[in-house]
Amino acid sequence: MTPNIPEPILNLLQEIGEVGGEETYLVGGFVRDLLLKRPSLDIDIVVEGEAIRVAEAMRNRWNGTVHVHPQFGTATVTPANQHLPKIDFVTARRETYESPGALPIVTYGTITDDLCRRDFSINALAMRLDTKAFGTIVDKTGGIKDLERGTIRVLHKRSFVDDPTRIFRACRYAGRYGFRIADSDSVLIQEALPVLVELSGERIRNEIDRVLLEENAPRIMGQLTEFGVYDSIFPGWQISPSFASDFQTAQNAIAWASEHLVDEKFQSEPVRWMSFFSTRTPIYQIEALSFRLVLTHQLRRLVSRAQASQHSVSLEKVTHAVFEKLGFPLSQNASIEHHNGKWCIVDADSPTGEGTTYVCGEGNLYRIETPLTAYRQLKQELTPLPEATKPSEIYRLLKPYPIAALVLTSVDRSIATWKREKIRDYLLVLRKVEPFITGEDLIQSGKKPSSEFETQLWELFAAQLDGKIRKKEEAYSRLRTFV
Ligand code: CTP
Repeated sequence: MTPNIPEPILNLLQEIGEVGGEETYLVGGFVRDLLLKRPSLDIDIVVEGEAIRVAEAMRNRWNGTVHVHPQFGTATVTPANQHLPKIDFVTARRETYESPGALPIVTYGTITDDLCRRDFSINALAMRLDTKAFGTIVDKTGGIKDLERGTIRVLHKRSFVDDPTRIFRACRYAGRYGFRIADSDSVLIQEALPVLVELSGERIRNEIDRVLLEENAPRIMGQLTEFGVYDSIFPGWQISPSFASDFQTAQNAIAWASEHLVDEKFQSEPVRWMSFFSTRTPIYQIEALSFRLVLTHQLRRLVSRAQASQHSVSLEKVTHAVFEKLGFPLSQNASIEHHNGKWCIVDADSPTGEGTTYVCGEGNLYRIETPLTAYRQLKQELTPLPEATKPSEIYRLLKPYPIAALVLTSVDRSIATWKREKIRDYLLVLRKVEPFITGEDLIQSGKKPSSEFETQLWELFAAQLDGKIRKKEEAYSRLRTFV
């Protein structure tokens, strides 16, 4: 049987089978998508034996390059022909989990071991590559039947507890293919929810990132919410009911940026996260989640070790009394948790404000700051903006904001069209304007840097942005009037 695979990839797979023989199998997502008649580019080969040896032989045959990870028994081959995809070779393995949520202990095994260690039956399918039986599907766990029925089903009862990222994965595949999670699996998911707390921030973020890349992200987020996943990761975390339209806004923003901001390092991830956090999540919670999920954030120091010792307290101990003494009283409901090697203190009812998130580590007390709240703050700042605002004022208003927030706001239909046009004008033109006179020019003409100097430079630049100065000479003659 010749499977329905595009010819260049079919040729690669046949060549692997010719070299590796009965030891070689195509596995995972590619086989699943092949049977679902969907395109897939991730080619994973399992070798019952030495994957690295087969990978090196293929590198020689394809004049390509090979990247070997001897400690994992894996290798990636990139064929010389740039139109061909890279291919991952992995030695068949068996996995055991010592504790829930931790990474597995891996030993080498057979193809059956390798299929049985996987997440769902639909992902535990292999295709033989040897010439004798090329294209034959190996199905040890009823994966084909589940594909036909449209069912997501784990292979054993501890699967979600061993690896709670599979909760995200189950919802992701269900949303992507319009499949149902088996009833028995829904029960297992509920039982495994408490283990989500054990997962590292990077692993959770990685899963949410992958959901946000799916076309059906709103449906997937909805199902994760029904399972109570977010509340299990962070008590009180709720997904905005307007997520579907916010997600659409993010998609529009990314499409606009990829067309208009082609020559810059525009990152789409923060745009998706900003829309994900948009309306419901309070700012202190976005800050706490940025810390927990290792999203972009920085720590601003509020109290140093030395300052704490002046108050006769040590920040090695995080208690209400210590915080009181330092002038940051905590409410009774403040939660104190250990993450990423530091203490995270989330005080939703903080007596000092609307809710505050602190971090304590190495004897210092910090506040978390994250650019992910910028979109919301920008929307608030835009509310009172009068239509007659001058370009220089727009420049000053928008300059501190990250590009991601500006792009997102520029396509947000809840904002007046003229405001969105001003933001686009800033993104496309205004922010790229070079001043006729720079600080460097002034220093060269013998002036010393000062705050007055700063003000003068800004006045000149503002006049230039507003079209009152059109040439360098005009800028210099205006500068002389200041003197
Ligand atoms: N896998 C698993 N458990 C996980 C992650 C991965 O068993 N927590 C296995 C699955 O068999 C999966 C394969 O590793 O098919 C490759 O993982 P990944 O690349 O994440 O998934 P794909 O199946 O390629 O899915 P996608 O189309 O979403 O990339």
